[in-house]
Amino acid sequence: MSKNNEQEESMSDPHAKDDAPVVEVRGLIKTFRLGFFRKRVEAVRGVDFAVQRGEIFGLLGPNGAGKTTTLKVLLGLIFPTAGEARIFGGRPGDRAVMARLGYLPENPYVYSYLRPLEFLDLCGRLNGMGTTERRKRSQEMVERVGLSHATGRPIGKFSKGMTQRIGLAQALLHDPELLILDEPMSGLDPIGRKQVRELLLDERARGKTLIFTSHILSDVERICDRVAVLREGRVTHRGALDELLGATDEHVEVVLSHVPEALSVALKAEHPKARSHGGTLQLELEQEAALGPLLARALEAGASVQSVVRRREDLETLFMRDEASRHEGSAEEESAA
Ligand SMILES: Nc1ncnc2c1ncn2[C@@H]1O[C@H](COP(=O)(O)OP(=O)(O)O)[C@@H](O)[C@H]1O
Ligand SMILES: [Mg+2]
Repeated sequence: MSKNNEQEESMSDPHAKDDAPVVEVRGLIKTFRLGFFRKRVEAVRGVDFAVQRGEIFGLLGPNGAGKTTTLKVLLGLIFPTAGEARIFGGRPGDRAVMARLGYLPENPYVYSYLRPLEFLDLCGRLNGMGTTERRKRSQEMVERVGLSHATGRPIGKFSKGMTQRIGLAQALLHDPELLILDEPMSGLDPIGRKQVRELLLDERARGKTLIFTSHILSDVERICDRVAVLREGRVTHRGALDELLGATDEHVEVVLSHVPEALSVALKAEHPKARSHGGTLQLELEQEAALGPLLARALEAGASVQSVVRRREDLETLFMRDEASRHEGSAEEESAA
């Protein structure tokens, strides 16, 4: 085992404080120079966030927002134009830091002629894992990502979803403390997405820290503890998902069936937004207090209750609302120019 570099500031001792963030990004700016005319591409324009141990952190935003660029800085694959990133208190790309993390690139590069176990074995060698552990973990990971049926096939013949899975197996192979996953659900069908969601939750339950990017909001809502939303290289929202969404409207949605005609007419008069389809009547209640009386009234009249669901604005709506307000010309962020 290598010695800790104690000459660095206190942040650099990975075990110094358990509540120290696993990942810290401060004032990150990355400008690319593109083509003959060295055209500037401001991919990241001042991003800050911190990720705590044991949480699932979502870096969200539309294509081109700067998510992948931010992750590449965290991995030490590219250097920031300004600002800094720390992982386990150390520098991105440091050997000791890299040994503690697993990475799934956006477009996992795999050796097309290798079969899954051969590929994982190679990754294990590169990670410095011993033979026994390598074999055992490779087998386990193939099963874990649902590729047991494909062990005889070269990876080059894999579908996008299967390639994504072998990429995940590779990221998990050495049981890292921190997983950095770039669009882990892209290319997967709904079942695959659910499996990946469960896998991420399992890892969190095992005390791991996870950062992943996504532009598919429904994938994220259910599993992220906290998020940062990027747009055009800047953070537009940051915090616990509950807080982001909690600040917005919440209402209770009730679906009734077998509603007698008289009650149906009365309810529609009281609730202009009520909708009936296929023999059911759907109502939205602004206040939860109205729920009890409504249900009592419905049951008394002989109707059945199909569902009662608390609904609130989702990220999708939040994004769309942002987009709309941007077009109305809010000039909040001019100071940065
Ligand atoms: N190596 C690069 N050279 C030039 N421009 C780049 C490079 N990498 C990314 N970009 C640009 O930076 C912006 C952010 O890209 P990226 O970080 O990949 O976004 P995201 O992952 O959120 O879709 C895009 O406009 C992209 O074209
Ligand atoms: Mg990307």
